[in-house]
Amino acid sequence: MDVYEAMAKRKTIRDFDPVEIGADVVRRLLDAGFNAPSHNHLREWHFIVLQDKSMRKKLLEQTVKSRNKDEATKIVDAWGMTDEEQRRMYVDAIPKQFSMLMEAGCLIIPCFRQRTALLQPEVLSSLNAFASMWCCIENILVAAASEGIFGVTRIPFEDERETMKRFLGVPEGYEIPCTIALGYFLGSTSKCNCQGCLRGEEYFVRGAEAKCLPRPVIESVRHMLDFFPGNSRQLLALGEVLAKQPVRVLV
Ligand SMILES: Cc1cc2nc3c(=O)[nH]c(=O)nc-3n(C[C@H](O)[C@H](O)[C@H](O)COP(=O)(O)O)c2cc1C
Repeated sequence: MDVYEAMAKRKTIRDFDPVEIGADVVRRLLDAGFNAPSHNHLREWHFIVLQDKSMRKKLLEQTVKSRNKDEATKIVDAWGMTDEEQRRMYVDAIPKQFSMLMEAGCLIIPCFRQRTALLQPEVLSSLNAFASMWCCIENILVAAASEGIFGVTRIPFEDERETMKRFLGVPEGYEIPCTIALGYFLGSTSKCNCQGCLRGEEYFVRGAEAKCLPRPVIESVRHMLDFFPGNSRQLLALGEVLAKQPVRVLV
């Protein structure tokens, strides 16, 4: 798979098959991360790979609050979120914050050297270490996609970040930008009786209401994908079909 394909395939998932990701694969992904540019040439990045599920549970129980769908709806209401698609994404995502980190085949906690107060930047370049770290994280995500592995980055709240640093023994002068959960998409072909379900194939359906698309839509999408990506008229038609659906299909 070339890099353009891997970038196009990269997507956020929050429903993980709990199968562990092998150490050799994790090593390849981290190596890809280390190919990212860094502001000071030092690549001051370290990674805690938390595979042990009992340790992971202990950490998450102290840091990530579980919330249900009703609570998630109240949160997006309180935020004043009005865009329907965005609301749907958050209401789907918020209740999965604990389970996605717990179930993922691999949980990586990146740490980077931050020499000044991260949350009190004086000039734009005060954020260079943070920016470099995120270049590295994106490399990891794209490399993972090329291996058929997907994930989600989660930004800890401030109190969570401090607890996490203490729990993991992260030394003074290092910061945690996010947690990275990586793994295989939890295909649901066994749960879904729909003849035309796209899951389990090379297609992903996402969105809170994502389940199956009606068969005629699948047929027309398949037909159009035969021309994909060369023909812009077909692409437009594909967009029109999908725009009428409550879900988006990522190919
Ligand atoms: C900086 C950053 C912070 C994010 N924080 C969270 C998060 O706390 N929880 C979560 O579930 N997803 C988080 N995400 C994932 C986004 O929700 C996701 O990238 C977005 O929905 C777009 O979906 P896509 O990655 O499939 O294109 C974050 C992504 C980025 C880049």
